[in-house]
Amino acid sequence: MAKLAHAQWSSKMAFVLAAAGSAVGLGNIWRFSYLVGESGGAAFVLVYLACVALVGVPILLSEWMIGRRGQKNPIDSMKYLAHQSGKSKGWALIGISGVLAGFLILSFYSVIGGWSLNYTLSSVIGTFSGQNADSIGEIFSGMLASPGTLLLWHSAFMLLVIGIVARGVTKGLESAARSLMPALVILMLILVGYGMTTGHFGETLSFMFSPDWGALNGGVVLAAMGQAFFTLSLGMGIMMAYGSYLGEDVNLLSTARTVIIIDTAIALLAGLAIFPIVFANGLSAGEGPGLIFVTLPIAFGNITGGAILGLMFFLLLTFAALTSAISLLEPTVAMLEERTPLSRIPATLVSGIFVWLLGVAALLSFNLWSDVLFFGLNIFDLLDTFTAKILLPLTGLGAVVFVAWCLDRKSVEEELALSATGLSVWNVVARFIAPIGVIVVFLAGIL
Ligand code: TRP
Repeated sequence: MAKLAHAQWSSKMAFVLAAAGSAVGLGNIWRFSYLVGESGGAAFVLVYLACVALVGVPILLSEWMIGRRGQKNPIDSMKYLAHQSGKSKGWALIGISGVLAGFLILSFYSVIGGWSLNYTLSSVIGTFSGQNADSIGEIFSGMLASPGTLLLWHSAFMLLVIGIVARGVTKGLESAARSLMPALVILMLILVGYGMTTGHFGETLSFMFSPDWGALNGGVVLAAMGQAFFTLSLGMGIMMAYGSYLGEDVNLLSTARTVIIIDTAIALLAGLAIFPIVFANGLSAGEGPGLIFVTLPIAFGNITGGAILGLMFFLLLTFAALTSAISLLEPTVAMLEERTPLSRIPATLVSGIFVWLLGVAALLSFNLWSDVLFFGLNIFDLLDTFTAKILLPLTGLGAVVFVAWCLDRKSVEEELALSATGLSVWNVVARFIAPIGVIVVFLAGIL
């Protein structure tokens, strides 16, 4: 086995926490629930679950394998492994497009992180107590209409991200995730409990799990696949980077199972908490990116102790968003540090300022620039669509194709530690099902 030149995670637990900390974020709660609502419910949910299983698992494993075998940053790991397998250095493009994806995603991610920060404060000062669905909707649209408010909170969120990444203290945060992630799950369960009291829980269950396949089209399937990539932090090389710190003794499959179960459970709980409120208040499931912000405060405004629960919820959501945001910025910073004379702090500042600027363009698309459209999409939607539906799937596809077709068999066998049957299943899934799936969904969605 190759000697490890590189630092390593202190334990398997530390690795699971870091990977789950990156995976669990706004994607699970904010993005998942609004996409389910917009795409008509169960058909989206089931396709999403299928994408997680058939595409997400092999790509997650491929990224970890590339990292653990390559022992370097994503770009250099790809170069090194491609060279070793006698393949073109062009494979390093995967690492490069990943860095770009992280940069673009963070710009709009930070805008939503800002909403979450804003709502944390609003909960503290009691803005939601006693409010009904209408007034809560107005609070939200008031925020969207105000470029100044959005700018303030986007800037605050980016400052936190820049501060943390500049100091390189991400490990400390990851250990905090150990207690905060279970707390988030408990709060979600309380909210699901509230949903059960609204009398619309049955409707929610059939909305989320009993599909109307007629609602399915190429666009919905592509959205579901994009969400699978987004929520598992795939297609950006961040999982490769994490894999490169991974000890040889860690079993990749069981670790992947843990991370995926946590991530998926949180998304499903979010749906079960949010849709009863949507139905009980006659709101529109297809509300769009504001969905959690116009629904959950209704629960917080109406349950006893709601102010505290609201505060805790948005605080935990912000925290989850921060641990994911860090993983989005870190690759850009690491690349600048390694490839330019910039040291960590200036590298973080430079990339942070560019991300922030792009985020400003994204937030203006909710008000002043709402008519600035490209391909019929405003800037916010364009950034989201281009990354989740194009860049992440293509980069992820590259990772799984490389591992399945280029990396030598022995490495793959050692990495996966599977039985002979397990390996044949892997071969079928990684060589055919996942790549063909990504390509078909991709083409169906864009054509
Ligand atoms: N997975 C995170 C979420 O669900 C977002 C995220 C963090 C991400 N790192 C990523 C998405 C890398 C794609 C690629 O909120």
